[in-house]
Amino acid sequence: MNLETTEDRDRLVAAARDACASAHAPYSGIHVGVAIRSAAGATYTGTNVENAAYPLGNCAEASAIGAGVRAEGKTFRIAETAVWALDREGRAVAISPCGGCRQRIHEFAEDTRVRIHFPWENGEVRTASVNELLPYAFELPASRNGR
Ligand code: THU
Repeated sequence: MNLETTEDRDRLVAAARDACASAHAPYSGIHVGVAIRSAAGATYTGTNVENAAYPLGNCAEASAIGAGVRAEGKTFRIAETAVWALDREGRAVAISPCGGCRQRIHEFAEDTRVRIHFPWENGEVRTASVNELLPYAFELPASRNGR
């Protein structure tokens, strides 16, 4: 069920902000935290994990989705997501999920109205649906969709 409230949003944003502290981002200095509320009602968090071989780094969304899949298996679905980012000095950085992570979220979203919260300018928290961030998302033909 995708019935979120303002408290859900605030709690999820706080969890994403807390997760930033665990990021491994010595190269970019952008410490990203993600919190996902699953359709089953659990919360999973993740951080970006960079690597000295830069392309090997992964985004925080990938870590959080991995935790959800590990815990809930085939039935894991995303009901709501929050992203946060802090710079080296602990100041909020305005970001929205990268293109690849929009596709990652789409893969597991309960439906295309699932909301994603992210930090914008002047401390504002912006919210957009998966469909707004990734219209015409890529999907395999039904015959090849393994679900
Ligand atoms: N990053 C994320 O973790 N998620 C996003 O959606 C955007 C970018 C990370 C990747 C890299 O470690 C750092 O932010 C700077 O690009």
